[in-house]
Amino acid sequence: MRTILIAVALTMQLMAHTAAAEQLGNVDAGREYARAHCGECHGVEAAREDFSPNVDAPDFSVVANTPGITERALAVWLQTSHPTMPDFIIPAEARDNLIAYIMSLRVAKK
Ligand code: HEC
Repeated sequence: MRTILIAVALTMQLMAHTAAAEQLGNVDAGREYARAHCGECHGVEAAREDFSPNVDAPDFSVVANTPGITERALAVWLQTSHPTMPDFIIPAEARDNLIAYIMSLRVAKK
């Protein structure tokens, strides 16, 4: 039990470090994956004119600019199944790319 806790603590530290030091995932690959797998419901492009085809599915640019959204929050969301799509599982590698892409849509506020 103790060993597991230490392993978890180390992993968290590593994750925090990685997130701060460099971006996980590949933005271009994430965009491709989003176009192929998410675009039927979500607006996936950065362009403002790109609205979600499914009104219930938020635009990725809206998701990215939601106050308080972080890579960690997206990762948690993407590891759970969509409420309306219980069988929708995103492979881990695609997940990192998607997160990198979605976060790239964030508009810097400065
Ligand atoms: C069949 C339609 C559909 C597809 C395909 C789909 N989504 Fe969704 N998604 C939804 C709907 C509807 C919601 C809103 C659910 C809710 O908020 O309860 C949602 C919500 C989300 C959210 C949460 C947004 C927020 O801030 O609440 C994220 C992130 C997300 N989707 C990512 C993705 C990604 C990444 C893909 C592609 C790999 C994808 N979705 C594919 C329909 C879809």
